[in-house]
Amino acid sequence: MTEVVAPEAGPATSQVERLFSGSIGAEYHMLDLICPAAAAMSKRVGDFVASLSFDAANCQTSLSAFEIGCGTGTTTLGLLESRRGLTILAADNEPAMLSQAQRNLSRFIDEGRLRLVETDALTALRELAANSQHVVASAYAVHNFKDSYRDLVLTEIFRVLRPGSMFVNGDRYALDNIAGQTRLTQEEAHGYFKVFSAINRFDLLEQWVLHLFSDESADHIMRLSPSLEKLREIGFTPVEVHFRDGVNTLLSATKPAA
Ligand SMILES: C[S@@+](CC[C@H](N)C(=O)[O-])C[C@H]1O[C@@H](n2cnc3c(N)ncnc32)[C@H](O)[C@@H]1O
Repeated sequence: MTEVVAPEAGPATSQVERLFSGSIGAEYHMLDLICPAAAAMSKRVGDFVASLSFDAANCQTSLSAFEIGCGTGTTTLGLLESRRGLTILAADNEPAMLSQAQRNLSRFIDEGRLRLVETDALTALRELAANSQHVVASAYAVHNFKDSYRDLVLTEIFRVLRPGSMFVNGDRYALDNIAGQTRLTQEEAHGYFKVFSAINRFDLLEQWVLHLFSDESADHIMRLSPSLEKLREIGFTPVEVHFRDGVNTLLSATKPAA
């Protein structure tokens, strides 16, 4: 069973949006048609976590991870397969996505390696103890947040990570160059029209275009350089980009060892 954690009403959690209800969430697998890079990124996040070495102070047979916005569980699977000793608490605030994760990953839930919670990322993070997580990971969730909510989430990630541990995020980080980003967004919208008109799915076309408008809006857009700067301001160091292709970016941000 998925646990449901009600967010405390307040100015921060009132900024939480549900952008994956409706047909986008119900048919999330359609993302593979318009963004094949997403599945590759899920694997990349898992491979990156597999490559991490945990020092003696941090190393135990069992490692705790928190995943932000697990959706249907694609990246969660990559993480679970990355290390046998990893147990994951995965949060998502969209029941339509979580119910698919529950089906897709039932064997890991039964084994006690995965717990799914239906709540927003900030509320879930605030329930975790300081210095408790060996990894915080995410793919394509954080860019959906409003800027001010995202800053609070990043600060909480820093708090819950064990010293020496890292936040690993595979996500859409917009180009700093505004004209370049506009061109990429136009190409992306063009791709949506091509794919969805070919299969006569104008309902999905409408929803994904509206979603793209949200990603690109002034209070959501997550540009790369200011994002790296924000992570450093919070105290993460080093903050490193490991992969970048267009907007698709894998980065890590380490909470320094005490
Ligand atoms: C693009 S999907 C990515 C899903 C998954 N991480 C993957 O790699 O396939 C983004 C997910 O983030 C979730 N999400 C968006 N805002 C959220 C928030 N504030 N708290 C928790 N989950 C959120 C959405 O419901 C959605 O399932």
